[in-house]
Amino acid sequence: MCGIVGYVGSVPASPSPRPLEVALQGLARLEYRGYDSAGIAVIDDGQVRVAKRAGKLQNLRDALAGEEDTTSPIAIGHTRWATHGAPTDGNAHPHLGGKDDELALVHNGIIENFAALRAELETEGFVFRSETDSEVAAHLVAREMQGTGDLTDAMRAAVARLEGAFTLLAVHRDAPDRVVAARRNSPLVVGLGEGENFLGSDVAAFVDSTRDALEIGQDQIVTVTADEVVVTTFEGELVPEPKRFTIEWDVTAAQKGGHDSFMAKEIHEQATAVADTLRGRIESGKLHLDEMSIDPSVLRSVDKIIVVACGTAANAGNVAKYAIEHWCRIPTEVELAHEFRYRDPIVTEKTLVVAISQSGETMDTLMAMRHAQEQGAKVVAICNTHGSTIPREADAALYLHVGPEIAVASTKAYLGQITACYLLGLYLAQVRGNLYPDEIAALMEDLDQLPAQVQRVLDDAEQVGDLARAMADVSSVLFLGRHVGYPTALEGALKLKEIAYIHAEGFAAGELKHGPIALVEEGQPVFVIVPSPRGRDSLHSKVVSNIQEVRARGARTLVIAEDGDDDVLPYSDVVLRVPATRTLFAPLLTVIPLQIFACELAAAKGLDVDQPRNLAKSVTVE
Ligand code: F6R
Repeated sequence: MCGIVGYVGSVPASPSPRPLEVALQGLARLEYRGYDSAGIAVIDDGQVRVAKRAGKLQNLRDALAGEEDTTSPIAIGHTRWATHGAPTDGNAHPHLGGKDDELALVHNGIIENFAALRAELETEGFVFRSETDSEVAAHLVAREMQGTGDLTDAMRAAVARLEGAFTLLAVHRDAPDRVVAARRNSPLVVGLGEGENFLGSDVAAFVDSTRDALEIGQDQIVTVTADEVVVTTFEGELVPEPKRFTIEWDVTAAQKGGHDSFMAKEIHEQATAVADTLRGRIESGKLHLDEMSIDPSVLRSVDKIIVVACGTAANAGNVAKYAIEHWCRIPTEVELAHEFRYRDPIVTEKTLVVAISQSGETMDTLMAMRHAQEQGAKVVAICNTHGSTIPREADAALYLHVGPEIAVASTKAYLGQITACYLLGLYLAQVRGNLYPDEIAALMEDLDQLPAQVQRVLDDAEQVGDLARAMADVSSVLFLGRHVGYPTALEGALKLKEIAYIHAEGFAAGELKHGPIALVEEGQPVFVIVPSPRGRDSLHSKVVSNIQEVRARGARTLVIAEDGDDDVLPYSDVVLRVPATRTLFAPLLTVIPLQIFACELAAAKGLDVDQPRNLAKSVTVE
């Protein structure tokens, strides 16, 4: 969704391209969030200068060609993902504010009371040039600035009038040395440089320039100059020690590194991703989760776990359910975060809520978790993005450490989320005494084998790529799985829908004869995720029967099975192999061919693999 960038340096001795370069570079790094227009603003010779264009960032670069030099020490920029008003030049940000265009502002989020505010401002003579909700914020801050003459105070007065979710960045011709920003329910981080400072929706906006960053909390305002960053609350109190952190990855992590797409690169980083999530968390056979800042006595009293998440993260939660219930014997529910709040869920002080979110900014997940906290539940966040809202507001946070995920379709974060869920489950089993230490050590030992096994599956990527290219014209694919194979089937279908725009559905294999089998006709491709024959015999044989059922009705069966499982051979048109592991750990392996299949098929269709239509990387509105 919308991306925001801000830059403040020192006043240049002569016109300099630096502010615009930093803003454009930041916007390029934020492209992955998804957008449909882009713009920037600087203050040149006492006038606000804005350039904005619908479409890709290149359109904005073309519009600026030859005019990159500026005398402005500051710049703000924005990539917009349209909500109110079509993606046009006029609706793109920054928006000018005031009767003399004296201010420019960018906004991420939704201002719910914009209609009433717009009517009020129009009565006062402010002219609106867009259909956006954001323009009211530009005029509001400009109007308050006329009264106070101080941009921070003006921002404070303006946000007091706003309802909804927002990150706002404003620059004003009468305060040309600063950017003032405010945030409520929408992301914002500050980057700290030498004689220059940065703002961004996430750290990718400024990781080219600095890895030193500052978290900005809920309902806070930050005033940024070249040498100073001052954080205050919406009530005007100084925040004496805002939280600093170091960005763990460098700019190479945000580049494709020889792959055709970020998605392909991230798929191929998954062996490292699993290893990174596991790293440093086991010592002398004992599991250490230093971040688990919830008291063990509270964890021992937990009588129910509810996982809240959306999309791929919810599929990871569905894997977690099988593992946690098996190891800890705690009833575990998985709920789509956007449904959770509206069904009046039973949550008590003994409920542990696990909020899974790669971005840490998904509004649906954030709202679900706040709802649970209001009722006394403790929340553990499983998250990849440092400084984001969900881990900050949670009672404890488990980070994935898999590096930035740039492609819209989640892959390496999914494996990181599942791995982190295993760690959480084993930690709970350790604290509560559900498993003996040697059982936990044996499980951890097997988990430690997973990075090498993931690599083994990745080494067979070419076979899956060939299959995908040969199937580039299919119009529907079905995915079947049982037990932990079921969330894998859902995830395989989700990947194919979102990046290849192919109708795809995942089913619990046992549900087939209750309806979905009617879909199967001659040639229908069906992926089947087969559990280990060494696990529960009945589970394996039931899935083999399911393969036979669909094949008997003409399906083309694409089977993912463990090395050496020959029972599947008579009924499979294609077999994709994965190494043997425990049934509960298999989702880290069986999903990989499905990710590669979607990625290669989308590429073969000539689609934009990293930025599929209509989708945004982090969904910061409900
Ligand atoms: C699918 C995908 C989405 C996200 C979902 C939650 O590939 O990426 O389904 O998983 O929007 O996002 P996070 O994990 O950031 O909360």
